[in-house]
Amino acid sequence: MAKDKYKPVCTFDELQGVSYLTRNIQYKKQPTSAILFVYEGTPYAYANHCMHMHRPLNCEQDAIFDETGKYLRCSMHGFIFDPKTGECQSPVCLGQRLQALRLEDIEGTLFFAEKHLTLVE
Ligand code: FES
Repeated sequence: MAKDKYKPVCTFDELQGVSYLTRNIQYKKQPTSAILFVYEGTPYAYANHCMHMHRPLNCEQDAIFDETGKYLRCSMHGFIFDPKTGECQSPVCLGQRLQALRLEDIEGTLFFAEKHLTLVE
């Protein structure tokens, strides 16, 4: 990846120091946002879009994890998701996945590594 072609999202250290970050993005020509977090030492990013009723996971609370810290949780109706795969664990949407967004770590700085994604300032 040509580093100068992409804008940095954040540093790994910055992400590790918070529960999560959001970034405004354009993905597949649609304005949306991304959630980013570190889980078990690995950075992850997903489109911030719950498939249940099309809300951001943090729409009702400033949080994307449940109280155990083991699952992502949509604050609208409480559906939970595997943080490593984005797979919904709640019966209504069981097996459906959040849209994963690939990240690339270049010397401690994270970049989106998705063809159809633009970071919006
Ligand atoms: S909109 Fe996410 S659980 Fe209903």
